[in-house]
Amino acid sequence: MNRFLLPLSALGTVVGGAVLLKDNVAGGVCPSKATIPGKTVIVTGANTGIGKQTAFELAKRGGNVILACRDMEKCEAAARAIRRETLNHHVNARHLDLASLKSIREFAAKINEEEERVDILVNNAAVMRCPHWTTEDGFEMQFGVNHLGHFLLTNLLLDKLKASAPSRIINLSSLAHVAGHIDFDDLNWQTRKYDPKAAYSQSKLAIVLFTKELSRRLQGSGVTVNALHPGVARTELGRHTGMHGSTFSSTTLGPIFWLLVKSPELAAQPSTYLAVAEELADVSGKYFDGLKQKAPAPEAEDEEVARRLWAESARLVGLEVSHVSSVREQPLAR
Ligand SMILES: NC(=O)c1ccc[n+]([C@@H]2O[C@H](COP(=O)([O-])OP(=O)(O)OC[C@H]3O[C@@H](n4cnc5c(N)ncnc54)[C@H](OP(=O)(O)O)[C@@H]3O)[C@@H](O)[C@H]2O)c1
Repeated sequence: MNRFLLPLSALGTVVGGAVLLKDNVAGGVCPSKATIPGKTVIVTGANTGIGKQTAFELAKRGGNVILACRDMEKCEAAARAIRRETLNHHVNARHLDLASLKSIREFAAKINEEEERVDILVNNAAVMRCPHWTTEDGFEMQFGVNHLGHFLLTNLLLDKLKASAPSRIINLSSLAHVAGHIDFDDLNWQTRKYDPKAAYSQSKLAIVLFTKELSRRLQGSGVTVNALHPGVARTELGRHTGMHGSTFSSTTLGPIFWLLVKSPELAAQPSTYLAVAEELADVSGKYFDGLKQKAPAPEAEDEEVARRLWAESARLVGLEVSHVSSVREQPLAR
């Protein structure tokens, strides 16, 4: 019996250590128990992954949740599942393709016309490390969807968000923003050799800069905006990386990933926290790593870069934003 004691104790230590490590890496659960009955929430890219789980969390707290997705079949299926599991029937699917300025304008026009209020906007959707694709309007896909699409959407919904104040905007960035650089000479990768990883990092850095500049413009409006890194999570985000779904990934890397990677449920906690936590009511223009506020990369703090990116983004999507509450459409100029 004694000869089994040492290996059993070692095994226990390893398993216990692994569970602790997983918890440590995974981060925490939203500490706020706040409910949001009567509040209208929009979550982009909510048919799967972190977006779907965020929509679920906010529906559980009583919000009227709008899932904004490009694939209506998947979107309706997700909305049905959330309604069934939360017993909240105010969960609806709407079409939004962030790779199309026309689709974004149509979506925003309908929301502005049909919804009385928008209290929480979660800019969650993203595409990562895809091939050198372009959006309907000719923008590099990752910059176009992750940054420009959400930039236009947010601006078109700003008056509604202000009228619903106090309201909140949550922008999903990534730790990858630290490797990013905004190349104003070639934002859309037209002259440089395409680097999918660098393009993703640029788009995620652009989101933090957009957050900072928008927060500055929204001072005193009752609308807050913050950016976050949700942690590394087990989702479909890696679908273009080649590793996703491969045998090597599921057999060899699987156990390692189990230790290091969050479930979508845990990865949705930071978005939920930023959307509902009472103590964050007046916090704006900040970057969160999980549930903790952190300093982003130095380039993300550069106010001049943020202002210039705002002006360039407005020009690219055909918006002239002279004042934060007066958004005028302009002809596209690239
Ligand atoms: N997972 C991670 O480890 C991780 C780490 C850091 C940051 N993040 C960020 O967290 C957010 C959520 O990512 P995730 O991991 O949940 O990824 P995911 O499972 O791939 O989900 C991404 C969502 O974005 C949608 N989307 C993509 N292109 C779109 C478009 N043109 N129009 C509308 N929706 C579009 C997708 O729709 P389809 O299903 O139709 O493609 C999907 O619903 C992203 O902003 C991501 O950058 C994730």
